[in-house]
Amino acid sequence: MAFFVCSNCGFGSVSWYGKCPDCGKWNTLKERPDFSKDSSRKKESLKKISITPLKKIKSQVKSRIKTGIFEFDRVLGGGFVPGEVILLTGEPGIGKSTLILQALKKIRTLYISGEESGEQVKNRADRLGVDLDDFLFSNDLQVEGIVESATEMKEGIDIVVIDSIQTVYSKDIEGATASISQLKEATKLLVNFAKRNSVAVILIGHITKEGEIAGPKSLEHFVDAVLNFEGEKISNYRLIRASKNRFGGTDEIGIFEMTEKGLKEIDNPLVFLEDKKSLEPGKAIVGVSEGKRPLFFEIQTLAVPTVLAVPRRVVKGFDYNKVLLLLAVVRKNLNLSLDSFDIYVNVVGGVSIKSTSADLGLIASLISSFRNIPIDPSSLFIGEVGLLGEIRKSFFEEKIVAEGKRLGFKKIFSSRNVVSVKDLKNFIPIAKSTMKINPSKSGKII
Ligand code: TYD
Ligand code: MG
Repeated sequence: MAFFVCSNCGFGSVSWYGKCPDCGKWNTLKERPDFSKDSSRKKESLKKISITPLKKIKSQVKSRIKTGIFEFDRVLGGGFVPGEVILLTGEPGIGKSTLILQALKKIRTLYISGEESGEQVKNRADRLGVDLDDFLFSNDLQVEGIVESATEMKEGIDIVVIDSIQTVYSKDIEGATASISQLKEATKLLVNFAKRNSVAVILIGHITKEGEIAGPKSLEHFVDAVLNFEGEKISNYRLIRASKNRFGGTDEIGIFEMTEKGLKEIDNPLVFLEDKKSLEPGKAIVGVSEGKRPLFFEIQTLAVPTVLAVPRRVVKGFDYNKVLLLLAVVRKNLNLSLDSFDIYVNVVGGVSIKSTSADLGLIASLISSFRNIPIDPSSLFIGEVGLLGEIRKSFFEEKIVAEGKRLGFKKIFSSRNVVSVKDLKNFIPIAKSTMKINPSKSGKII
């Protein structure tokens, strides 16, 4: 029986389709030998499996190679491991190539670029002020050729960088460059190379906000670590986090600022807060732990009467569905109906908060905007909010509270002193100066 495989996404089927049912491309299904009929395995006789007690197996402590950037090492789990394959994803222009040049400046690197010429890479290195003495460069993109050359010179290199995986191709695959079948084949060959020769490989993958599912996403299970480089291009802050890490945790983040001279590491936990302690309604400071490190963010919420039949919910920097859930919790527990209000939520600094400890602060900022009452700027909110309105203890809550105190927050609200969202009625600290400016308009204070 004939067997058809899509040259774009690798979908297989016994019947031919003009349009691939999986990826939707036209005329990509080509006839291939039917591997399910491959009889070579059928001849193999029954074989018992060999079993070893796990405690008899010696653990292998692989030494790590530290990069030139502490924040990058932190996310990797203390540097990269020989033979590790890392997928580094991010939107185009976010700074992936810059990060690589800065991080690998002291490491023997084979840098394959399908995005830029040698001159461009050299110019950037000069601009960044990094000497790339141990950098080898190539613009050649056939993956079999890359693997062959890298294998020959494996003693002289510690890492191979493919910038980007969407630009390399396998000579044995029909699909166009960057098609899913090309991406998978190239990645498989490079993973094999890394494991056989104990040379690490970094695959850079472009993702776009809309197209995240296609492309690099499909490579995640082949690699050891997936690092996402994120941030808004309009803001200078960049975060790197691991969404998968076989050689470390996934809870650490690295923080950078993009400057004229490249990426600068940031270790100040208050970096995302503005200096001025202004008193606008709708603003709350939250304390979260990203990894083991406390960080503080400003959440801004704007609640304005809507003119639409279905009110708008516009969310940036926070999980959209989580915001809807918190609005439902507010409605039920504080009896505030927000149906006739448009609600906009933003996290200052162009970053997105993944931690659930920011829930309480989001509700505080919402109430503050709704009531048009600023929150005392020395207040800090830490807490996850459950469906029933209960405040849950956050990871590393004590640590965030201690750090918050050290940094001068006077009124700290967390599961220690707030049991339910209902308590916010009594607890939201009103900024004194506004009470004076506009005592009548504040109405009944929540
Ligand atoms: P780049 O590393 O090329 O992004 P990617 O590889 O993810 O596509 O970074 C491109 C952006 O970074 C570009 O818009 C200019 C900016 N940039 C700086 O602001 N300062 C610098 O020192 C460098 C090298 C780049
Ligand atoms: Mg680049």
